Amino acid sequence: MTNLPLPERTSVSDAIDLAALSHDFLWGTATSAYQIEGAVTEDGRSPSIWDTFSHTPGKIANNDRGDVACDHYHRWREDIGLMKQLGTNAYRLSIAWPRVVPGGDGPVNPKGLAFYDELIDGLLGAGITPSVTLYHWDLPQVLQDRGGWPERATAEHFAAYASAVAERLGDRVTHWATLNEPLCSAWIGHLDGRMAPGLTDLTAAVRASYHLLLGHGLAVQAIRAAAPAAQVGIVNNLSTVHAATDRPEDVAAAHRIDGHTNRWWLDPVHGRGFPADMRVVYGVELPEKPGDLATIAAPLDWLGLNYYFPATVADDPTGPVPHARSVRRPGVPRTGMDWEIDASGIETLLLRLTHEYGARKLYVTENGAAFPDVVRSDGTVDDHERQDYLDQHLAACASAARKGAPLAGYFAWSLLDNFEWAYGYDKRFGLVHVDYRTQARTIKGTGHRYADIILRHRSRAQRAA
Ligand code: FCB
Repeated sequence: MTNLPLPERTSVSDAIDLAALSHDFLWGTATSAYQIEGAVTEDGRSPSIWDTFSHTPGKIANNDRGDVACDHYHRWREDIGLMKQLGTNAYRLSIAWPRVVPGGDGPVNPKGLAFYDELIDGLLGAGITPSVTLYHWDLPQVLQDRGGWPERATAEHFAAYASAVAERLGDRVTHWATLNEPLCSAWIGHLDGRMAPGLTDLTAAVRASYHLLLGHGLAVQAIRAAAPAAQVGIVNNLSTVHAATDRPEDVAAAHRIDGHTNRWWLDPVHGRGFPADMRVVYGVELPEKPGDLATIAAPLDWLGLNYYFPATVADDPTGPVPHARSVRRPGVPRTGMDWEIDASGIETLLLRLTHEYGARKLYVTENGAAFPDVVRSDGTVDDHERQDYLDQHLAACASAARKGAPLAGYFAWSLLDNFEWAYGYDKRFGLVHVDYRTQARTIKGTGHRYADIILRHRSRAQRAA
């Protein structure tokens, strides 16, 4: 492992109003199980929908798959060491449902739980607060074979699995998230077909969206019952949405995309029901039962925001639901994912969650950028575009906090380069570079920058105490 310090490029983090961030601010990194663990057939794990999808030729760039990934299942001790080198005091991980309940429902696999049990102890021993997400897209394939998220039973099985995990880890884990980005599971997995399970079926997608949120609500109850001290939240990826022109058709399209991307996921959880306008746009009957809306709206302790890019859209009457297409804004810088870079979006969304949805506590649960990285002959990775991205977004987060957003932590996506879903291993988001041939980890310039920002915040907090 080479972790040479990099020379500072500019005065680090001067633009970040660190004084606006609380003394006990969580500085974290985030990952997810399928993207880093590997060991997909070990210790009783059953296949997930991502094993099936990634093993289907043509679905993933280069036909990459998560079979080995970062081999974190065996190298987690080394990875905790990296977190310590970065100086982080929190880590967001996800638990693989197919490791813990390989049958989807029914018996718990002791070896699956034991892995997370040890990992949690390792994190706590290193002074790192674990933030556990129960579902980051890896549904057991056996449940997909029985209909998956379009079926109500999947929501019930999710709650049972959540209960088993919270019973085992709830004496040590206080930060819990039910779902990661249900938007992607429902819309990209069931409507666009670019993610597992790869369907393009509006009815299935809308039913999946409903049962994901029902599963969330049932899991909130299950976690609270098993672990009374739990602080429970949900993680959504939201976007600021702009109309491409001020034509009324484009303004209406932007409102639909706001519904599709943001309101559909936020309103029901906040007791406002599913947005009436979007019900009309989808034209699919929801599989509602009495009491569901109250379950979905179970009070939460915090909201997680994953922010990557804004959306600019135009009306597209003949295109797929919701009849809007993305428009490229010329001259706007983009990441290696071809995603627009606009840090103001993260501030806008944090303030929107504060004012429009009355959030009491917020975490940025993911934020980051992929760029093609080069490991230089001296073993360093000078990823200055990613460093600028980090600086700009942290400055915007601090600005939101200064304006009153109750921001309690920031988790950089990602600790490690990893399996980036349909993009395979081509897209690197890590603060730490991974050489997939050797599994060597190298802290990139951005990792060093993050460590420096954390240190400065910590020294300031200590001085103020
Ligand atoms: C988010 C996912 C995460 C990662 C980043 C880049 O949508 O939650 O797993 O793929 O995007």
